[in-house]
Amino acid sequence: FHVDWDIITAEKAGFDHFMMKEIHEQPKAYRDTMGSRIDASGRKVVLNEVKLTAEQLRDVNQIHIVACGTAYHAGLIGKNVIERLARIPVETDVASEYRYRSPIITKNTLVIVVSQSGETADTLAALREAKRNGARVLAITNVVGSSVAREADDVIVTWAGPEIAVASTKAYTSQLIAFYLFGLYLAQTLGTQDEAYIAEVIDAIKLLPEQVEYILGQAEAVKQVAEQVATHEDLFFIGRGMDYAVALEGSLKLKEISYIHSEAYAAGELKHGTLALIEDGIPVIALATQHDLFEKTVSNIKEVKARGAYVFGIHSAGEDELKKSVDQTLEIPKTLPLLTPALSVVPLQLLAYYASLARGNDVDKPRNLAKSVTVE
Ligand code: G6P
Repeated sequence: FHVDWDIITAEKAGFDHFMMKEIHEQPKAYRDTMGSRIDASGRKVVLNEVKLTAEQLRDVNQIHIVACGTAYHAGLIGKNVIERLARIPVETDVASEYRYRSPIITKNTLVIVVSQSGETADTLAALREAKRNGARVLAITNVVGSSVAREADDVIVTWAGPEIAVASTKAYTSQLIAFYLFGLYLAQTLGTQDEAYIAEVIDAIKLLPEQVEYILGQAEAVKQVAEQVATHEDLFFIGRGMDYAVALEGSLKLKEISYIHSEAYAAGELKHGTLALIEDGIPVIALATQHDLFEKTVSNIKEVKARGAYVFGIHSAGEDELKKSVDQTLEIPKTLPLLTPALSVVPLQLLAYYASLARGNDVDKPRNLAKSVTVE
């Protein structure tokens, strides 16, 4: 008896790598994570699994989001989302720092731990520290029976399905969806946003899966930029606000699998030091998807252009004036400013993938890294 197709190829569903398969599974992961959490009327979020009562939520006076790696970057978006929607102060921390800085935790603190695997040692230790101090802990995780899921008081499961590639893609974006849902849930429970606005955000979230599909259709354009990027040893990502948080994730993704050194900078911070590193031909990936910050970001782009940078800009549909200030652009479909990270990160995932490929690296298993880090 002879089986001549290999099981791994079959599991990759026709893609060359798990990472590419997982990038393409994002529309499904978005839909599954939204799933039955949006009620039939489309105007309300239902989180049956969250046992926190309205009264307990009203008592929450600060939120700490704690995580590692890519999940930490999702937490940075989570901070923006919760503060904007629910007006509760949020701090986002790296788990290995949080544990040792004596964070001020009270019984009115809600600690949100974010972990794809639910087994990361530092995140688990931070969860235990939070509970010891009397906080209530909500976990956002992709693994139902994981340690984090078992020890947290409440769990929001991201339904991204198993993620095999070390570089996280669909788990990260599903975490963003979880934050959008939880932010809306807080807003509707606390009455911090009116019903019409909540319904508008829900409508826009529902469009995200097909918008991601549209971006995936532009992969060839990103590939060309990636092949250029792959010939460099240093580059920069810039953005403001949520674009900055996405820039951090794009930079991490690129470092993890292409081994190209990159840094993400809050665009307005460049002039305080990093501008000294901009020289002729250095690639800069500029995110300018936030409408209210657009002009400010464009002026930072001009600063790097004037010093010879080669700028690849990512902007929202309708804001194509960016084309005048950069060397190449990629447009993402129009959505609410709050939701752009769920779209703008996709070209950055593709950029990292193709740059890694162009350098002949092992895309799914980068050197020195593990999918799940269970040591401190
Ligand atoms: C490892 C992985 C990263 C991941 C981080 C946190 O370093 O390589 O991709 O973001 O752990 O993992 P978690 O399972 O807690 O989300």
